[in-house]
Amino acid sequence: MTQRALDRVDYVEFYVGSAKQWAFYHKFGLGFKIVGYSGPETGVRDKVSYLMQQGKVKIMVTNAINPDSEITEHVRLHGDGVKDIAIRVNNLDDALNDLKERKVVRFENPLDIKTGSGVVHRAKAFTYGETVHSLIDYGEFDNELPPNFEPVDNMVTQESGIARFDHIVGNVEDKKMDSWVDYYVDGMGFEPLISFDDKDISTEFSSLRSKVVQYNNRKIVFPINEPAPGKKKSQIQEYLDYYHMPGVQHIALHTDDIVKTVSKMKREGIQFQTAPDSYYAELAQRVGKIDEDISVLKSLNILVDRDDDGYLLQLFTKPTGDRPTFFYEIIQRKGATSFGKGNFRALFQSIEKDQARRGNL
Ligand code: FE2
Repeated sequence: MTQRALDRVDYVEFYVGSAKQWAFYHKFGLGFKIVGYSGPETGVRDKVSYLMQQGKVKIMVTNAINPDSEITEHVRLHGDGVKDIAIRVNNLDDALNDLKERKVVRFENPLDIKTGSGVVHRAKAFTYGETVHSLIDYGEFDNELPPNFEPVDNMVTQESGIARFDHIVGNVEDKKMDSWVDYYVDGMGFEPLISFDDKDISTEFSSLRSKVVQYNNRKIVFPINEPAPGKKKSQIQEYLDYYHMPGVQHIALHTDDIVKTVSKMKREGIQFQTAPDSYYAELAQRVGKIDEDISVLKSLNILVDRDDDGYLLQLFTKPTGDRPTFFYEIIQRKGATSFGKGNFRALFQSIEKDQARRGNL
């Protein structure tokens, strides 16, 4: 695939146990607007989906209506989680020819969905665990919403300032990270992203390894983690134990004003990981001069890291569902191009506190 065959992440679809409740969480907690609905009323007999949007970020949540659906089975095994990182492609035939030539990525033959607004061409490529990439070519299709979706008569949504996807992270098994990096590089034309996070990341107890692949000047960025041995169980291993397979660990959402975004989400009851007070005592010395007031960052538990290109501010939610699997990251980049390695220690200590309370450390 040339560096232009893929365009960008179109949307991320979760398979969940109650799409209506997930839509409410995204609307009232994270500030997403519910823009579309699909279900029996729109001609889809076996499932219900809500499409949410904020800035350029589109999230879809889907729930089966029947007990014998593959969606129900997915939720039974994994709990609520990401099924599809859908990618918009410029020309599906070209993209599939390229996948065929590269002979790495498994995919299903394309499907044309004919609608009153034109034809949507899509195919499905497989990645780690049961996760897939829908490859979608909208061609001349002229509708704001996907096929079989209708607009939702929405109450006013107070957005929280989310602008775009920053990166989407997969967790895979020990010693499988490199082969999944190769899958994206050799199979789909991604490039490895060398950054200063590119080493083992660990605390005294638990540890992980992480590598990042990117496509077309970072228009698509996928870090891939694997557990590494530590004194206690890696948080990546805890994820794998509860998800029962590799899968998406977190989605990082970019905001241009993290203080505003996180203040709003906290007011709405979203719970975030916290850093110890000692983190902020050492912060000024570690990252140097920054625009933000450290006492404000401390009150919101926002983390800061610096690399050669600038600095970034970031924060991680507690798990979104009931299993300790998927969570969101909120990130604001001020020049920095890395992923916050300097914060992993503080973050891990916070996650490990929860892990210990669950009896999994
Ligand atoms: Fe991240």
